[in-house]
Amino acid sequence: MCGIIGYSGHRPAVPLLVEGLHRLEYRGYDSSGVAFEQAGRLQVVKAAGKLSALEAKLEENAYMLATTGMGHTRWATHGLPVEKNAHPHLSQDGRIAIVHNGIIENFQELKEELLAKGHTFLSDTDTEVLAHLIGEERKAAPSLREAFARALRRAHGAYAVVMIALEEPGVMYAARMSAPLLMGVGVGECFLASDIPAFLPYTRDVVFLEDGELARIKGPKWEVLSLADLSPVKKSVSHVPWDMQAAAKGGYKHFMLKEIMEQPRVITDCLTGRVAEEKDGPRVLLHELDALPVPSRLHIVACGTSYNAGLWGRQLLEGVGRIPTDLDIASEFRYRDPMLLPGEVVMVISQSGETADTLAALRLAREKGCKVIGLCNVVGSSIAREADVVLYTQAGPEISVASTKAMCSQMVLIALMALYYGQRNGVTDNAMLRGLLELPERLAAALPSMQERAAQLALRFASSRSFFYLGRGQCHALALEGALKLKELSYIHAEGYAAGEMKHGPIALIDPQFPTFALALDDALFAKVKSNIQEVLARQGRVIALVQEREGRTPDLQVEELWVLPASLPALSGFFALPALQLFSYQMADYLGKDVDQPRNLAKSVTVE
Ligand code: M6R
Repeated sequence: MCGIIGYSGHRPAVPLLVEGLHRLEYRGYDSSGVAFEQAGRLQVVKAAGKLSALEAKLEENAYMLATTGMGHTRWATHGLPVEKNAHPHLSQDGRIAIVHNGIIENFQELKEELLAKGHTFLSDTDTEVLAHLIGEERKAAPSLREAFARALRRAHGAYAVVMIALEEPGVMYAARMSAPLLMGVGVGECFLASDIPAFLPYTRDVVFLEDGELARIKGPKWEVLSLADLSPVKKSVSHVPWDMQAAAKGGYKHFMLKEIMEQPRVITDCLTGRVAEEKDGPRVLLHELDALPVPSRLHIVACGTSYNAGLWGRQLLEGVGRIPTDLDIASEFRYRDPMLLPGEVVMVISQSGETADTLAALRLAREKGCKVIGLCNVVGSSIAREADVVLYTQAGPEISVASTKAMCSQMVLIALMALYYGQRNGVTDNAMLRGLLELPERLAAALPSMQERAAQLALRFASSRSFFYLGRGQCHALALEGALKLKELSYIHAEGYAAGEMKHGPIALIDPQFPTFALALDDALFAKVKSNIQEVLARQGRVIALVQEREGRTPDLQVEELWVLPASLPALSGFFALPALQLFSYQMADYLGKDVDQPRNLAKSVTVE
């Protein structure tokens, strides 16, 4: 949550910061601001609302001289999303400015201490308290870096902070604790950012900062120190493979649509290097897992869409991989003192690799002596670095706040894991593996007509205020995901339900104004879902049924709308159903004029509890 960018180098800083903020806006977008030094003063410009409001303010003035500065785009935690609470925030004397992502949990206590010393505050934020605390520490500390470190040592909670100060022109300080922050190393210049795309046009050389580290940057020079005692820390520079094209819209109206349409490519990338043709058939290679014993039980822990991917995969891990599998929402897992027995393994799933609850679950599992597998998209993210084994999902940068291609990539990896553990348990399923290999081509062929069908249905159902999504087995997970996508993009109330649970209460809601999106795919549970659909129809419910052809024939279901998907093996039908659900929500939100890539109240990466 919140996006941070800092720059020190030879270019005009302000336009570069604004450009970087555009690429970070998915992290939070209720207000934004920049700070830089000009004419011997720290200048701060900020605005409530989208970044365009800040740009309009900046256009009124010429800010082309500064070559060092920092910017922030906010997702409110403490204080309303109004201009006074936007970052950057200044110290009492106005000589120090900071931007911050995270929550300072003891800010109230620190604020009272500072108030007693005569400080006055202009905002309701925890961040301003930290800025004042650094200023206060500076009075006694021998140097600015010592003051920064002393203040941070007193702050409890999560933070990624960047600081500039009048006393050291051209210098940026930064530190992190449980919130993402990276350094980009360019030619004669350095960047700090919450995420790589912010500086991708300028460099792909990255230094990943760890918790408890402090960086000092001045143009091309950078050093990393320990926050505890300011001793030097050796760091290496990694080269990331992402390119700018991957982080641009590429002719699509929205990032979300681009990312949905990219899924065939994502599946190919996930499979590349992970399947070998051998004489008795194809074989899954997941060398990352070779060193770990086959888990006696796998505990999957994740949030949101990543949780839904885990739920979808449980059936495969148990059915194909023969691994007993449990599932938890990370924010529940971390506080329920889970029982983890020797030989059991925890697998955390996270696109960003920075989700606070998922990261905490990982740390808890490791504390309890459990090995952790991280299924992660963002290279070098906290989860990727702290897991015992990382399986990268290879989806490329996902910019739209609503997660789409990341779930598809997580599903491919889980399917591969199921096949891999099946192999280790002496079971092979060549048909499923061959089906996976054929998926990219088949899905690419199906997507254009799926988009058209989604657009027709969106038009027809756009006035609905509530939706049920029903499914059984793997389709239960997809029903949850379909409902999540509709809620977050269109702000239409939607509930995902296990179809068999309907008659235990929710069916009371069914009437002609409450449509149902039923997932009735071609699997062993089709007949059961068909009965559940009849129960809805008997109560005058409108139904869209997502079905598949069987032996060239469309299933006989007398519903208002049948949406027919290509035939597939039951284990893989989700790879067609998922984009159908995504496209329906996308078309609905676009038709209703919603902000597709940046839905209200959300942020891409949930780095606070
Ligand atoms: O980065 P993560 O996969 O850990 O994120 C988990 C959720 O925050 C994320 O999937 C969220 O639910 C998305 N908004 C869903 O579209």
